[in-house]
Amino acid sequence: MSSARRVVAIDGPAGSGKSTVARGVARALGFPVLDTGAMYRAATLAALDRGLDLTDAAAVTEAARAAEIVVAETAGEDDGDAVLLDGRDVTADIRGPAVTAAVSVVSAHPGVREVMVARQRDWAERHRGGVVEGRDIGTVVFPDAPVKVFLVASDEERARRRHGDEEAAARQANMGEVREALARRDALDAGRVTSPLKPADDALVIDTTGRAVDDVVSEIVSRFESTVGADG
Ligand code: DC
Repeated sequence: MSSARRVVAIDGPAGSGKSTVARGVARALGFPVLDTGAMYRAATLAALDRGLDLTDAAAVTEAARAAEIVVAETAGEDDGDAVLLDGRDVTADIRGPAVTAAVSVVSAHPGVREVMVARQRDWAERHRGGVVEGRDIGTVVFPDAPVKVFLVASDEERARRRHGDEEAAARQANMGEVREALARRDALDAGRVTSPLKPADDALVIDTTGRAVDDVVSEIVSRFESTVGADG
């Protein structure tokens, strides 16, 4: 079976539940999990550290290419993965406001995406599959994945979750600002020319609003077992 045959692709907007659900599915299947948003965030930090003009596609792409990014490969733990940029622990920095405000600009550059997508495919090859979460996993990175999931949730619920994340990280956050920042990022992620956020034609679209995590995880695991069991 090619490694893409053992990929579970999980896409969706910020706050739709991707990370929590991806970890749950990974734990249930005994698969590793890759948070591709963390990779784009680390590339963004690399560009900010160099003081680059973020609209300079060539310079930002070069910074992404030169950046050694390691997303720790925990097998479905609850905590966010540790992320290293050129050997430095940037786990907290990549979730801070500077990176969050800049990441949609950096990730819209086709050159940056090319570098990251190649690394994501390598990761899946090395692990012979896994659960991969992001924005374009089912549409671009692994169009042959046997299971593609697109998570959605109401704007209100997504803002509440992100606000909770900010509070958990002891960062000041006001609900109105969180809602606005989400809307801004959604518009950029869904409106960009290269690999915009959208469900694959054959994605299972799941609304996680008000649903228990375990319930969503079970639905995806059943889909994986029936699909891969049937033709894998
Ligand atoms: O999942 P996240 O919110 O940490 O992702 C941060 C940003 O990275 C998101 O606003 C868009 C970008 N991203 C992307 O363009 N493609 C992916 N596969 C994952 C994330």
